[in-house]
Amino acid sequence: MVAQHIRYIGSKRKLLPHILDAITKIEVVGGAGVMVFDAFSGSGRVTEYLLDQGRRVWANDMSPIAHLIGQHLVGDLPPASSEDLSYDSTATVAEPRISRYWSGTFYSTDNALRADQFLFGAGPVPSLLRRLTCVYGLDRVDATTGVQRAYLKSPAPSSRFWKDIEFLPLEDRPKQGETTNLDVLRAYEKYPEVLEGCTAYFDPPYNENQYFATYHIYNAITQNFEGFGDPYGVAQKSQVCKDPETKSDFCSKRRAAQAFEDMIKKCPAPRMVISYSEDGFVALEQIVQMIKDSGRKCEVVEVDHKKYNAGKAKSNRVTEYLICGWR
Ligand SMILES: C[S@@+](CC[C@H](N)C(=O)[O-])C[C@H]1O[C@@H](n2cnc3c(N)ncnc32)[C@H](O)[C@@H]1O
Repeated sequence: MVAQHIRYIGSKRKLLPHILDAITKIEVVGGAGVMVFDAFSGSGRVTEYLLDQGRRVWANDMSPIAHLIGQHLVGDLPPASSEDLSYDSTATVAEPRISRYWSGTFYSTDNALRADQFLFGAGPVPSLLRRLTCVYGLDRVDATTGVQRAYLKSPAPSSRFWKDIEFLPLEDRPKQGETTNLDVLRAYEKYPEVLEGCTAYFDPPYNENQYFATYHIYNAITQNFEGFGDPYGVAQKSQVCKDPETKSDFCSKRRAAQAFEDMIKKCPAPRMVISYSEDGFVALEQIVQMIKDSGRKCEVVEVDHKKYNAGKAKSNRVTEYLICGWR
């Protein structure tokens, strides 16, 4: 069975061995953590990699779909029964959701109907595993460039959009960590003692893309359309996207520096590795200074990394940074 992933802005897929390297190095000088606190776990790439390397991981993210992915990866979801993931292609769904909001735009009419049958064919409250399986299926057949702000109006005949959606069973994973669905500062307040024994890995947003709204379809499915209301805009977003609770200070040019400062200075974990992106709101030197001001030693690791430009044959190299702090 192969691992499944969603496309996600800022996914650290290409940097995984470097991240583990950086964590291992600071643990040699600062002592090994009981768990790695993946504070912004997103698509789960880093969590999954660390777990597969034998580490215990605490996956946290404020976004519901990221939390659900984390729950699956650390083995926090009940195992699937074959009945649990059955799919009846003749089922009539009393309250179709995907078809109602995103049929013929984000998904083909057939795929939207199948997704509704898969989600709601066995009842109005699908299991978490069923929701996640549906999200992975939808991610492979949508008409987007990986974000859900808008859809491609005329998908090419060879496009994924025309392929039949598949609901592939997810691999069962052993219990190897913890998960929370919290703002990072709330996690500090709730679990300071646990964090004191952890090494923290931080990969916060570096620009104005609010993740909840950018993946609003997956978040709506994860929350089983709770609070959905009357959808708005071309993307038919849920009313929940307007809730200030879904918005991150890291995505605000005005508030990002303070968010970074709080994340670093208030962190109970003695050791931290921060993924840094050059095109972010906060300068590298500022972050380094924040780490030093927090009483930690600091080292910056440069990682040369190939970045592909969509639609262009040419690739260009970018420098990614891992900022390490320890005491
Ligand atoms: C750059 S992405 C992380 C990508 C992840 N490392 C991966 O490989 O997929 C940033 C993540 O931070 C989450 N986030 C934003 N603000 C947050 C906050 N204040 N507390 C916790 N999570 C937050 C977003 O939901 C998003 O999933």
